[in-house]
Amino acid sequence: MKHDSIAVIDFGGQYAHLIATKVRRAGVLAEIRQPDDPTDMFRGYKGVILSGSPSLSAFGEDSEWNKEVFELDIPILGFCFGHQEIAKYYGGRVEHGGREWGLATLNILVDHPIFKGLEKKETVWMSHFDTVVAIGPDFCEYGYSKLGETGKEHRLAAIGSDKYRRYGFQFHPEVENSVHGDEMIANFVIEICKCNPTWSMEAYLAETVERVRAQVGDKSVFLLASGGVDSTVAAKVFGLALGADRLHLLHVDNGMMRKGESQRVLKMYADLGLDQNLHFIDATDEFLAAIGNETDPEKKRRAIGTTFVEVFDREAKRLGIESHLLGQGTIYPDTIETGGTKRADTIKTHHNRVPIIEKLIKEGKVVEPLAELYKVEVRELGEKLGIPREAIWRHPFPGPGLGVRLLCSNGVTPKDDIASLQAAVGPIAESFGLRAYVLPIKSVGVKADLRSYEHPVVLCGDASFEKLTEVSGNILKEVQGINRCIWNVMGDDPKTVEVVEGYMTRDRLDLLREADQIVMDALRHHHLYDCIWQCPTAMVPLKINGVGRELVIVRPIKSERAMSATAAELPPVVIDEIRRGIEKLPRISGLTLDLTSKPPGTIEWE
Ligand code: XMP
Repeated sequence: MKHDSIAVIDFGGQYAHLIATKVRRAGVLAEIRQPDDPTDMFRGYKGVILSGSPSLSAFGEDSEWNKEVFELDIPILGFCFGHQEIAKYYGGRVEHGGREWGLATLNILVDHPIFKGLEKKETVWMSHFDTVVAIGPDFCEYGYSKLGETGKEHRLAAIGSDKYRRYGFQFHPEVENSVHGDEMIANFVIEICKCNPTWSMEAYLAETVERVRAQVGDKSVFLLASGGVDSTVAAKVFGLALGADRLHLLHVDNGMMRKGESQRVLKMYADLGLDQNLHFIDATDEFLAAIGNETDPEKKRRAIGTTFVEVFDREAKRLGIESHLLGQGTIYPDTIETGGTKRADTIKTHHNRVPIIEKLIKEGKVVEPLAELYKVEVRELGEKLGIPREAIWRHPFPGPGLGVRLLCSNGVTPKDDIASLQAAVGPIAESFGLRAYVLPIKSVGVKADLRSYEHPVVLCGDASFEKLTEVSGNILKEVQGINRCIWNVMGDDPKTVEVVEGYMTRDRLDLLREADQIVMDALRHHHLYDCIWQCPTAMVPLKINGVGRELVIVRPIKSERAMSATAAELPPVVIDEIRRGIEKLPRISGLTLDLTSKPPGTIEWE
C-alpha cells in the first residue's frame, strides 16, 4: 500500500527527527530530507515541514538551501528557523532579536484548521535568536506569544497564508514542553495536507512481512543475534514472515558481556520460539588472547573488532550462510546522512568489514525489516510482537562490552606533570569547601569534537549534587589536561594512589561483572532503571592508601541519543546500597560516581 507522506527538511540538531516521529504518530509516514535535495525529490509528498536549526540563522548568508521547494504546490509548515525562512521568502523581514528561551503562552488570534481542537491560549516552547518582525502581503498573524516569567510579548509567533498554503511557528511544537504541539502537527498533516492516516505499526508489520517474504523467496535468513533491541525485533519479524525454521541466528560471547548475559539472550530467543537454528559460540579465549597485555584503549578496541571479524567469518562459513540472505537490524537514523553517532558508525564498520558480509551486501543479499523505523517505533513494534519489556527497554550496551569499561595498565605511572594539574584543581575545589585529587591514569573524552585522553580528578567531601556538578564543570572548563571529575563515595581521601598492573583477564572481568550487577540491581530495586539512560560501571587498576587494586566508577547518565549526556543524580539510599555491595567484593580500593557531562567526557571510559 502506498501511504501519504510528508517530507521533513533537516536543518540540523535533533529537531527533524522529533518532528518526523510526531508526524508518524498522527498516522502519516514522514521522511527526512536534506536541505540541498533536488526539488524533484519532493514531488511525491503531500506536504513539507521545515525544521528548526541549532546553528543556522535566517538572517544573513548562512541560510543557503534549495528554496525551489517553495515553488511546489504543496503545503509547507516551518518551525523556528523554518518559520523565519518562510516569512523572508514571501516578503517578510527577520531580525536578530537576542536569545529567547523557555515556556511561552501562545495567544491564538484566528479560527484556523491548523489550531483545530485547541484553546485560544496554548503553552508552547520557545528557543531562538532571530525573530520575524514583518510579514509579506497575503500573510496574516495567527498568534502572538508571551514569554514565561518575563511576560515579554512576541508578535508574529504564528503566521500563515492560505493563498500560498505556507505556515510558520516561531515556537517548537515538536518538543514535549509545547503541550498541544502534537495536535498542531497532526492538524497540519491531516487538515491542511489532507493526508490519509494509514501509517500504523500494524500496517507496517503486515507490509514488512510481505516484503520480507517477497525478497527472501524460498531461501533462509541469517542474523547476528546480539540480544540488543534492534536485532531481537528483527529476528521476531523474520520468524513471523518465514517461520523459525528458516531463520538462522548466531550469538557470539566475546567474554566481555554482562554477568549471565549470553545465557539470558539464548533463553530469550528460546522463549520467543526462535531457537530452531540458534547457534552460540563462546569465543572468550580467542578475544582475551587477542587483547593480551594491551593497555592502549584504541588498540584494545581494534583487537576486539578484528577478532570479531575473524570469529564471525569463520563461524558464518561453518554454518554455510553463503546460501542465505543476511538479515540486519538497521534502523532509520542509520540510513540517513545525519543519523547515528560518529562512534556508532565506526562500530558498525566492524560488522560491515566482515568479508563474508561484504560479499553478501555486494550481491544485494541483505534484508532489513526495520530500515524505516525510529528506535521508539522499533520498541513499539517489539511490544506488539510480545518481546519482553526488559529486552525492549534495556540500556544500550556497547559492542566491545565491558572491554571499554575495564582500564588496563602495566603498573607504570605515566610521566605526566600531575603536580601542576593538582596545583590547578586544588584551589577550585577548595573554593567550594571540597578537596580534589588528580589520578595518575587517563581516560578517553571528547573536546571540540576530538578525542581527548586525559586525567580524571576525584572530588572529596560532602556537597549537594548541584554543587558537585558545578565544581566539576568549573574544573573541566578551567584546567587543561583534565577531562573527568568523579566523586568519592567510599572511604578516605585518596592521598596515596599507586598504579598497579592489570590487564584484560577473566578474573578482572568477573570482578567488573559483579560490580556492574550490583549497580544494575540497585537501579532496578529502586525503580530507577527506566529513568536513567545508561549507567556504565568502569574499573581502574589503582591501589589507594595502600589498599586494594581496583577503583570502581559508576556513571549514571541522562541523554537522548548519546551525542551529549549529563550526569544523573543517584539518591543516597541507592548509593548506600551500591556501596554495601561493592565493599564485599575482593581487591576493591574505592568507589566513585562520575559527574562528568559529555562533552568533555565520553559516556564510556575508553
Ligand atoms: P561514548 O563513549 O562515545 O558512547 O560517549 C556513546 C554511546 O555509544 C556506545 N558505545 C558503543 N556502542 N560499540 C557500540 O556498539 C562501541 O564500540 C561503542 N562505544 C561506545 C556507548 O555505550 C554509548 O551509549
